[in-house]
Amino acid sequence: MKKYQEILLKVLKKIKPSKKERERLLSLAEKALEITNEVAKAYGAEAILAGSLTRDTWLKDKEEIDIFVLFPESLSKKQLEKVGLEVGKKVVERLKGKIVIKYAQHPYVSGILGKYRVEIVPCYKLKSAEKIKSAVDRTPFHVEYLKKNFPPDLSDESRLLKQFLKANGIYGADAKTQGFSGYLCDLLVLAYGKFLDVLRNASDWKPGEIIDIEGYWEEKDYPRLRRMFKGEPLIVIDPVDRNRNVAAAVSATSFFKFKKLAKEFLKKPGESFFFKKKEMSLTVKQFRSIAKKRRTKFLFVVFEPPEIVPDILWPQLRKTTERLKNILHQYEFSVHRYACWTDEKKLAVIMLEMEVWELPSVDEKIGPLIFDVKNSERFIGKYKNSKRLINGPYIRDNRWIVEVERGWKSAKEKLEDTLDENESILMAKGIPNFIAKQIAKKFKVMDEKSIERLIKTNKEFGRFLKEYFKMESLA
Ligand code: CTP
Ligand code: CA
Repeated sequence: MKKYQEILLKVLKKIKPSKKERERLLSLAEKALEITNEVAKAYGAEAILAGSLTRDTWLKDKEEIDIFVLFPESLSKKQLEKVGLEVGKKVVERLKGKIVIKYAQHPYVSGILGKYRVEIVPCYKLKSAEKIKSAVDRTPFHVEYLKKNFPPDLSDESRLLKQFLKANGIYGADAKTQGFSGYLCDLLVLAYGKFLDVLRNASDWKPGEIIDIEGYWEEKDYPRLRRMFKGEPLIVIDPVDRNRNVAAAVSATSFFKFKKLAKEFLKKPGESFFFKKKEMSLTVKQFRSIAKKRRTKFLFVVFEPPEIVPDILWPQLRKTTERLKNILHQYEFSVHRYACWTDEKKLAVIMLEMEVWELPSVDEKIGPLIFDVKNSERFIGKYKNSKRLINGPYIRDNRWIVEVERGWKSAKEKLEDTLDENESILMAKGIPNFIAKQIAKKFKVMDEKSIERLIKTNKEFGRFLKEYFKMESLA
């Protein structure tokens, strides 16, 4: 026990904002809130503080002030968006900060004031969290709920949990991370108690785990809940909305990663769980030797990512990858494994590790049984005078067969042909809109040789490859 405490105290020293830092953030928050309320008044709206600063659970390096502006329900969504941005801009101007527009479900204003961030999020003022119009409308209810129920002496436990998750790349409910949100961390601490209790419980989690702090559901409802939240390994019922899973973003990988880390920490605790060193990047030499050993072949689609928020970019990139894999499959170029990566600025890469990348020029088409006269005629009619016919129609095992020239003999060529289209054709092929637009402008299909320069010059890309080749064990 002592061993754990020593470690956790050491970690806290590094991640907990000092008393002074806390006071500074809170007083800036009060000031920002006052200004927001002044500005919002003209719109019949009122502002509240939200997020981790209202429960004293923020990390030293995430000094963020979340302000929610509650507008009357009578506004349309469009109006809300407009006045929300107006209010946000005025507030940040008065605070003398730099205005940045961010995009969640709706756009909102984020102000940069030195090391501080002030997020000004518009939402509707509602009576109950179960009748919300958009996800952000729940937040004021979260604030109220945790104000009432979160024990102040557990705030550092939530900080430890956040840092533990952060160091291991699973802190955040965004599309890239697919991990644990700050609010979820607070709830887990509320449900289980201390950081170590959270770990003890998490090590026993089974997929489909249900945590229902307010006891809204009975045991007999659990199968129904699991159907409601199908595909979501962790189900944490939102205390302010019994039909919402706070852990909806947690992917199966994040779920098992946390489970495994929890077990490992409990068995052999160490500070290193909280501060991960950056992985070394893969060298060209290593890449060559791994590729050679695997005896697969790599194809990379390289292009400039669209200027959209990461929460839209990543799902679109993943979908594109999935589509390209399926298209190649249709032409019998089977893909072994695949992945995608982007720096969210200059470079997006779709990587396809091919099991079959070249096919012979002869292609045998197996037709119907000779007894099936109607379909036999159709089959023969289709191929008899085809330019691609090499042999036949002949018969084997009572079936009509032809040998034809294969359309696509190389996966690389097929891939290039698939992508060399305008935006609307790409979209018709199932490539999501923003990516289709970019690929229509410019793309390149690279192989192992031509990708080497990128590995040399881009460390982050090298790190992505390293992770790809050393899939972390989750069990
Ligand atoms: N929120 C939510 N679901 C999300 C993200 C945010 O319900 N996926 C709500 C929560 O009520 C949260 C608030 O929006 O408290 C602010 O979001 P965020 O800043 O991401 O979380 P914090 O709780 O402030 O935690 P952190 O310390 O990570 O900032
Ligand atoms: Ca926050």
